[in-house]
Amino acid sequence: MSDKNYSYFQPPDRILLGPGPSAVDPAVLLAMAAPTIGHMDPATFDLLADIHDLLREVFGTTNDFTLTISGTGSAGMETAVVNFVRAGTKVCVFANGYFSDRLTDMCRRQKADIVRLEKPWGEVFSDDEAAEFIARERPEVVAFIHAETSTGALQDPAAICKAAHDVGALVIGDCVTSLGGMPVEVDKHGIDIVYSGTQKCLGVPPGLSPMTLSTGAVEALKARDWDCVSWYLDLKLIHEYWGKSRRYHHTTPVNMIYALREGLRLIHEETLEARFARHRLHHRALVAGFEALGMKMHVAEQHRLWTLHTPLLPEGVDDAELRKLLLETYGIEVLGGFGPLAGKVLRVGLMGSSSTRRNIVLLLAALESGLHAQGHAAAGGVQAAEAVLAAG
Ligand SMILES: Cc1ncc(COP(=O)(O)O)c(C=O)c1O
Repeated sequence: MSDKNYSYFQPPDRILLGPGPSAVDPAVLLAMAAPTIGHMDPATFDLLADIHDLLREVFGTTNDFTLTISGTGSAGMETAVVNFVRAGTKVCVFANGYFSDRLTDMCRRQKADIVRLEKPWGEVFSDDEAAEFIARERPEVVAFIHAETSTGALQDPAAICKAAHDVGALVIGDCVTSLGGMPVEVDKHGIDIVYSGTQKCLGVPPGLSPMTLSTGAVEALKARDWDCVSWYLDLKLIHEYWGKSRRYHHTTPVNMIYALREGLRLIHEETLEARFARHRLHHRALVAGFEALGMKMHVAEQHRLWTLHTPLLPEGVDDAELRKLLLETYGIEVLGGFGPLAGKVLRVGLMGSSSTRRNIVLLLAALESGLHAQGHAAAGGVQAAEAVLAAG
């Protein structure tokens, strides 16, 4: 036996303003601390029914096939891939950031026939580019990232979905960094296979991946005559538990179910309209603050996420040193860029409960101090943000 003295773990005091996880509302933490009950308890089934309905609201869908995968956002991504992509399936991937690369890797492991349309990180695909690519390649599956967390860019799903449906393809859409913070509108756009994660704009700890399937995707699933390589992520089996038969598949993490139900209840109470307006206003205020501090935005204005920001670091500012100061002196977590954006941008999230006026002001003041510490004159960030907030 180790003679180490294992004391109770008290997490450090943090303000979570990175790309996720975001702050978790105390009501959600309280819900999680309730006594665990069984995954086959009728009371748990009542919670699943609530989650089913509340998730449909945030996804903007009437899809009956709406559930959660037990795992983080990557489990949702992998579920989308292993259920609809197998050896030889032709997949078109819109590749403009890290998460489209991860999705490509998952398709590669399935031995799919992959064609990628590439763009520099931070740019998005125009309607014409999307339509031309899909019409030319005529794939069976199309995949795109709605909110690219590695770049801060928002991809409009409309043209992608229309072109895909014109050639009879199903569309996989990653909404990990948009769901609950920006409109996703699954039905309006016709995104067929959509997944997200709980730890970003839903304001719940990491651990579940909400997912929804269109009628077309459900039909394809029913007609599937091959075995999904993953037993755990096989949607046909998982739906036996979430659907009418309520048959055991695996032991659902019940306390995460409590947490998600409470997180979704809070969203319902706030209303989606008010929540989106809050995220948008705070995004505009933060951008004004960055710009006043001399930090230009990496992504063009019309394509920016409200939930994840990528301000460019001023010339000569050391990214790691700046983030270390924010974390160690002010307890503020923001992350840096990676891949082609390493050392060039910060990644600053304003997601869910983290999207507050207080956090904007604290971050901008701390940033100003961090820039000064590196001999970089910067001022007026807080005032610029406050002006936007006051104007509304
Ligand atoms: C756009 C996007 N997709 C997928 C993932 C993977 O989610 P997770 O890290 O929860 O597995 C993330 C995580 O940040 C993400 O931002």
